[in-house]
Parts: sequence; structure tokens; C-alpha cells
Amino acid sequence: MVSYKELGLVNTVELVKKAVKGGYAIPAYNFNNMEQLQAIVQACVETKSPVILQVSAGARKYANQTMLRYMAQGAVEYAKELGFNVPIVLHLDHGDSFELCKNCIETGFSSVMIDGSSLPYEENVALTKKVVEFAHSQKDYVTVEGELGVLAGVEDDVSAEHSHYTQPQEVQDFVKKTGVDSLAISIGTSHGRMKFKPEQCTKTADGVLIPPPLRFDILEEIEKRLPGFPIVLHGSSSVPIEYVKIIEKFGGKLSDSVGIPEEQLRKAAKSAVCKINIDSDGRLAMTAMIRKVFSEKPDEFDPRKYLGPARDELKKLYMHKNLEVLGSAGKA
Ligand code: G3H
Ligand code: 13P
Ligand code: ZN
Repeated sequence: MVSYKELGLVNTVELVKKAVKGGYAIPAYNFNNMEQLQAIVQACVETKSPVILQVSAGARKYANQTMLRYMAQGAVEYAKELGFNVPIVLHLDHGDSFELCKNCIETGFSSVMIDGSSLPYEENVALTKKVVEFAHSQKDYVTVEGELGVLAGVEDDVSAEHSHYTQPQEVQDFVKKTGVDSLAISIGTSHGRMKFKPEQCTKTADGVLIPPPLRFDILEEIEKRLPGFPIVLHGSSSVPIEYVKIIEKFGGKLSDSVGIPEEQLRKAAKSAVCKINIDSDGRLAMTAMIRKVFSEKPDEFDPRKYLGPARDELKKLYMHKNLEVLGSAGKA
């Protein structure tokens, strides 16, 4: 049993309170390896931004849970070494069972998400409540994110997507019954690099897809019902066309890529949305740089020579997000 405080981590209580009040969002960046983590820490130290490090079940499987915990502890020390002790949260992304959440809480996570969004409402309430009771009863209070509404996936048909938006009339009851610290909602974002089907989008003259806007009307309804309550947006990568183009130029194939435009995320960050989840953009940045090196330097076989440029690009991306999109720069 290890508490996150021993690792130098913080939970999200104070961070989200400040973010909602201050009209910005805390970046929640996923990591699976050292280069991603170094880029996140470097970017957040340089921009003086608080940060939520997210670990998915897949990341735990890929990198090993013990490694990830020590890497998060290493991130805290690395930030200090770089000269600024930014607040760092270690968060379980999309926990799907009580056991997984419990295990993370007992091994140093300061925050967990229990994602019961695909369950019937009452089952989601019961599971989320169970995780909250456990997390909040720890010696050091662990924060819990719940989810209501299912993020649309590109495979869903259009009518199903609409029925998956968060229903504002449920949010008060859910928060009251479960005691969650924050709530992830579905207003049109989705995971991955294809956030909308081409037929849902319009096209620019040169064929770039323009997605339909997020449902800010639903967000406003939710804010009315839960004034000041911390709201989370998943699936918030912008899928920069520059990266898609580099990847395709150097042999990749990523047709129909479309993300959430930055101006919509900027608008969301000014509302009660206080945590914005970004993973796919980092994957695109790394892949673009690695493909470029492989193509331009076919004799290169030192991993540092392609992971290094990928890490530098990631840092640039995260700094841009903190400074220009989320508004978290200078808030640490
Ligand atoms: O929400 C999903 C995140 O992008 C994590 O993805 O499950 O492939 O690690 P993953
Ligand atoms: P993206 O796929 O849009 O980066 O979303 C990541 C996410 O929501 C992680 O929970
Ligand atoms: Zn997510």
C-alpha cells in the first residue's frame, strides 16, 4: 500500500476548483513510455502548467503498473530538477471495474476514473458510488471521475450517437447519489483520430473535413443544473492536419481523420470544463516524426535518433495546448 502523497503527487480537488473559477482546463495527457512522460513534464514545467498524467488499462498492460508508478514519481522529481514543482496528478483513465480502481488507489494513484457509462443508469450509479466510497475513505483522499453519456464512436450510426449524449436531467441525481468529484460528459467528442464520419462533416475546397460543432447547448444545461461542478471532456484531440499530412507523405494511410477544432476546446475550457483529455494528438505527433526520420534517414537504427525528434515534437505540441488552447499555462 502506497499513498500518492509519498510519491509527491496531488489529487484533483484544488486543481479543478481553481480551473473552474479561473476559466481554464487542466491538460490530461496519456502516457505509456518514457519519451511521452519526459515531453509532458518538460512542456508543463516550461509553461508552468498543472498536469494530469493519465494511465489507461492498456498502458498498464503495455508498460507494467509498477514501472508506471515509479515513472510518475520520477516525473515529480524531474519537474523539480527542471526548476519548477508543478502539481502532478496520477490518474487512472477509463477504469472499468472496482478492483482495477482499488488496485490503482492502493499503488499510488491520486485520482481514478470509473467509467460505468455503458452500463444501465442504476448500475453506473452503484458501481461509481462503490469506487467513490473506497477512494474517499483513504487516509489521503483520492478523487473520482464518473461518466454519464457515451462518447460517439465512428462505427455508431447517427441516430445512436444522438441518444448517447449526456442527458442533463440525469446529472444532479448522479452526482448526488455517487459523490463523484468530477463528471465526464458526452457532447459530441469521441476517442481516436476519426471523430466524425465524413458524411457528418462539410469539406473545404482542398478536401479537409470540417466537423459539426460540439453540443454546447447540452453543456450549458448541465452547468445550470450543477453550478460550478467540475466537468471533464474526453476525446478532445484536434487531430492536426499537419501531422496527418506528414504521416501520409511518408507512407502512412490515415484517411478520414478529423478532430475537435481548437477554438471549440478554447470555448469549452472557459466553462465548467476543467479537465480536457488528449491522447491521439500525441500519437500522431510521434508517428509523424518517426516516419519522417525513417524515410529521410534509411540507415538510421539508433532509437534515440527517432524517439528524440518525436519527443521534441511532443513537447512542442503540449506547450501549444497549454499556452494556446487550454489556458493552463502559468496556473501551476
Ligand atoms: O481513452 C482512451 C485513451 O486514448 C487511451 O487509449 O486504451 O489505447 O491506451 P488506450
Ligand atoms: P483522444 O483520442 O481524442 O486523444 O481522447 C483521449 C481520451 O479521452 C483519453 O481518455
Ligand atoms: Zn477517454
